[in-house]
Amino acid sequence: MYGMIATWRMALEGVEAASELLKADADAGDALEKAIACVEDCEFYKSVGYGGLPNEEMEVELDAAFMDGNTLDIGCVGAVKDFANPIRIARQLSKEEVNNFLVGRGAEKYAQRHGFERKNMLTERAKIHYQNRVKELSQQQLKPYTGHDTVGMVCLDANAHMCAATSTSGLFMKRSGRLGDSPVIGSGLYVDSQVGGASATGLGEDVMKGCISYEIVRLMKEGKTPQEACDWAVRSFDAELRKRRGQAGDMSLIAMNNQGEWGVATNIDTFSFVVATAQQPATVYLAKRDAQGKTTYEKASKEWIEEYVQTRKAPAKLKE
Ligand code: GLY
Repeated sequence: MYGMIATWRMALEGVEAASELLKADADAGDALEKAIACVEDCEFYKSVGYGGLPNEEMEVELDAAFMDGNTLDIGCVGAVKDFANPIRIARQLSKEEVNNFLVGRGAEKYAQRHGFERKNMLTERAKIHYQNRVKELSQQQLKPYTGHDTVGMVCLDANAHMCAATSTSGLFMKRSGRLGDSPVIGSGLYVDSQVGGASATGLGEDVMKGCISYEIVRLMKEGKTPQEACDWAVRSFDAELRKRRGQAGDMSLIAMNNQGEWGVATNIDTFSFVVATAQQPATVYLAKRDAQGKTTYEKASKEWIEEYVQTRKAPAKLKE
């Protein structure tokens, strides 16, 4: 038995590649690193890796994290510039005894020392989106980029080893040095091979208020299925934020337990995610919240998937 669940349609090609590895008995950590790096390398995904949207100073600052569910090893990087694959740096950091979470210049020095590939991650497309956004921004609040945000994944391999990982360029137009939930263990991701794992995407500032990935794993440990745990955690925390603060940011969670069962919950209109298991090739689903706040999902149609790809690859144009 093996399985993988990932946030957003952008994870599809990575999950497909990882599934092939898992089928051939690969380790969960290797499969996961491959899948996340595949998303980081795609210039058309605006919220992760190469082509990720920049901060307010037009610099691409990337965050990533890796957690091993057997040893509970963690490795995290924040606000890293000019490295091709933050996930590889995060995974390398997870092998260190201490100094597992590095940010900014410290993370870059570490990456340089370990010979990770340097790359200017700011693409011409991202610059155009930046310039358009500068024109629009005066009237708008910062929020996760629609239909994108963090790629987060949970993976179970045939030897019952589980890992989780995330990667993101964070909020478009964020302040320099801003970190969201994605590199923060317990908020953006958590995994324990004895139970299962979870990962989040959405507005980091709100996701972090609930340590919601850890909460989902805790609920699974208490006996809830991944679907029950996701539903419970997202609904109750969304309600809590609305009660105390009058609003709740976008929040979508995925989870898988160590039996390969999975679940998802969201507080937004359309959240796409990808699942692959030994019984099922990588499949894109669309989740939404119904009137009662319960998450429902269905397989994405071929038309939806094609339109998604076309929209992402459409030429970027400067607005008048
Ligand atoms: N969820 C990604 C971020 O807030 O940076």
